[in-house]
Amino acid sequence: MNIALFGPPGAGKGTQAKELIEKYNIPQISTGDILRNAISQGTKLGLEARSYMDKGNLVPDEVVNGLVKERLQQEDCQKGFILDGYPRTTKQAEKLDEILSDLGKKIDKVLALDVPNEDIIERITGRRTSKKTGKIYHIKFNPPTDEKMEDLVQRADDTEEVVKKRLENYELQTAPVLDYYKAQGKVVIVDGTKKPEEITKDLIRILGE
Ligand code: AP5
Repeated sequence: MNIALFGPPGAGKGTQAKELIEKYNIPQISTGDILRNAISQGTKLGLEARSYMDKGNLVPDEVVNGLVKERLQQEDCQKGFILDGYPRTTKQAEKLDEILSDLGKKIDKVLALDVPNEDIIERITGRRTSKKTGKIYHIKFNPPTDEKMEDLVQRADDTEEVVKKRLENYELQTAPVLDYYKAQGKVVIVDGTKKPEEITKDLIRILGE
C-alpha cells in the first residue's frame, strides 16, 4: 500500500501518519522530519534546508527528490509507505512517478485532509512535540497526559508570521499537486476538521482493513 497524505500545514498529516504506520506496519516518510533531523545534526543539508524552512519557503525540489529517492529504496519500504509532506510541487509529483516507476511501484491513493485556513493558525501555533518520543501534541486540542510540558518543544517555523508564509506557498505551489493526482483518479478528500480518532477511522475505512 503506497499512500501520500496531503493537506495544508497543520492539517494533521503527521498525527494521522503515526496512527496509520501502526495499523498497517509500513513506514512514514516525512520530508519535514528528515530535514529537521539534518538541521539538528548540523549537516550541510541541514544548513541549506534551514535557510528555506525558517522563512516558510519550500526547500528546492532537487534536494528533496534526492532524499525521497534514497529513502524509498530502503528495505522497509518494500511492503508500502506513507508519504507525509511530499510531493509538494507538481515537479516533485512528476519526479516521484518516475522514481516509483523505476522501482516497479506507484502511488495507490492520495488522501487529502481538508481543513479551512482559519483552523490552521491555531493548530500550528499551539503544536508542541515531545523531545523524547517525537509525539505530536496541542496545548488545547491534545495536551500531554503522560509527559511534562517542559519536555515538549515548539518548531522554529510554527510562529504565526511563518505559518502565513507557509500557507501562501501551499496555495501557490502545493495545492496544484492535487489536480495532478485527480487526473490520475487517485484523490480521496477527507474531512480534517473532525476529532483525530474519527479521522483515523475514516482513513482506515478508505484504505481497508
Ligand atoms: P512539514 O514538516 O512537512 O510541515 P507541514 O506540511 O507544513 O505540515 P505540518 O507538519 O506543519 O502539519 P501536519 O499536517 O503534519 O499537522 P500535525 O499532525 O502536526 O514541512 C516543514 C517545512 O519543511 C516546509 O515548510 C518546507 O520548508 C520543508 N519541506 C518539507 N517537505 C518538503 C517538500 N516536499 N518540498 C520542499 N520543502 C519541504 O498537526 C498540527 C497540530 O494540530 C498538532 O498540534 C496536532 O496535535 C493538532 N491536530 C492534528 N489533528 C487535529 C484535529 N483533527 N483536530 C484538532 N487538532 C488537531
